[in-house]
Amino acid sequence: MRFALADTPPSQCACDLLALAVPEPGTLAGEAAEVDRATRGRLSEIARAEGFSGKPNRTTLLQWPDGPPRRVLLVGVGRDPGPERLRQYGAVAVRRAQDLRATSVALATGPGGPAHAPEDTLRAVAEGAGLGAYRFNRYRKPNHESEIATIQLIARRGGGDGLGRALRLAEIATSATCRARDLVNEPSNVLTPTALAQTARDLAGSSGLDCRVIDLDEARTLGMGLFVAVAQGSEQPPKFIVLDYRPVGARRTVALVGKGITFDSGGLSIKSASGMKTMKGDMAGAATVVATMGALRDFGVSVRVLGIAAATENMINGAAMRPGDIIRALSGHTVEITNTDAEGRLVLADGLAYAVRAGADEVIDVATLTGACVVALGDWTAGVMGTHQPLVDRLLAAAASSGEQIWQLPLYEEFLESMRGDISDLKNSAGREGGAERAAAFLSEFVGTTPWSHLDIAGPAFAESAPPIPYLPSGGTGFGVRTLLRYLASLSG
Ligand code: BES
Ligand code: MN
Ligand code: ZN
Repeated sequence: MRFALADTPPSQCACDLLALAVPEPGTLAGEAAEVDRATRGRLSEIARAEGFSGKPNRTTLLQWPDGPPRRVLLVGVGRDPGPERLRQYGAVAVRRAQDLRATSVALATGPGGPAHAPEDTLRAVAEGAGLGAYRFNRYRKPNHESEIATIQLIARRGGGDGLGRALRLAEIATSATCRARDLVNEPSNVLTPTALAQTARDLAGSSGLDCRVIDLDEARTLGMGLFVAVAQGSEQPPKFIVLDYRPVGARRTVALVGKGITFDSGGLSIKSASGMKTMKGDMAGAATVVATMGALRDFGVSVRVLGIAAATENMINGAAMRPGDIIRALSGHTVEITNTDAEGRLVLADGLAYAVRAGADEVIDVATLTGACVVALGDWTAGVMGTHQPLVDRLLAAAASSGEQIWQLPLYEEFLESMRGDISDLKNSAGREGGAERAAAFLSEFVGTTPWSHLDIAGPAFAESAPPIPYLPSGGTGFGVRTLLRYLASLSG
């Protein structure tokens, strides 16, 4: 699928489907009025007949066999549409185009509302289109549905370079997000830690990153006791993946640390059958980190970024860690394993300590860490917690402009108190109360004084059924990639 800018009046755009965004109350104005005139009023007639009122994501379709666009789709964008409504518009339009087997699609980007810059409007529509078109088809017979070959975005020039750049940013963020989705959707028998490491290596080669992969022996030698403890129960060799993006002149280093459990059985504290069903997606944090790293150069990020993915299975063989085991972490802390299903915080703890030792000025981890976070915030919202409020605030701001939903949870002292061990420094699980915050409090012990934030994406990383947001697919969503890219691009060298 290719994006292109088009500077033609919409009614002149030759394509299988032309989409127009129409605000409430559904009056055809601007570009939509122009198309209505070209159809000699047929567009407004069908809109009226169907009671189209511009409500968000409602549509009306006009067949126009003799028009340059062979069909015209009106998509409601509600009152005073901002970028998020337009992102959804882009997705609704391409999904309808797919259903109609259209292969060339044109999206008008006209009424972004005077409050929004044309670049932001264009970027939002293009993002929605790119994200909405995604399907994971690798394991299905080809092809019941046709592929969209080109998406033209209709925008008045005169915006100059700004529009081209906006489109490019949308394209980069979209394809990075879809890369993360693919990694999450790959089953655990295919996407092993070894396969993830190979993907990271390949990506490093094509996107200007250094890549180092630490294997089991080296992890042992380095003292990554917690990472090793989780890995020792699996036949699959673990991989601790380190990607390094070093643009010239960069002075600051941000580290991203991703939870890469390629399958979480729970270990000896085994999960129920239904709890295990989606656990191939327990490496979504690592997928987000790897995919984000691959887009940094194209996105023009100017700080150094270290991307760490702690990849292993959490399985049960004769060497698996047991409840009651006490393990020494890379940081030197001792941890009593009170629940082998609280494995994510174990591999992250060594990942965080590694990032701090590598000289990170700031650390962000991303993890499908707790069911408690899903209970607290629901399926579509990630939790953010941290020790440095300015960093949390910057992440919240980046999330607000990307349209990803992130909500802060507190890190009060008592959460950490509850994680203190009886015969060790820490234990890896306590009761169910405040589970997301307790997990974060545990992690906070491993970053020392380095500014740190934690994103718990257990809810939004994986959708068991189709989400209510049209640019999100079921399965892996690629959550976090767009927010992290926006955040990193906002930092200067
Ligand atoms: N991978 C799970 C968390 C999870 C649950 C992700 C549901 C996505 C959907 C994590 O490793 C886990 O099992 N956490 C436990 C922690 C508990 C044992 C303290 C949980 O949330 O139950
Ligand atoms: Mn678990
Ligand atoms: Zn897990």
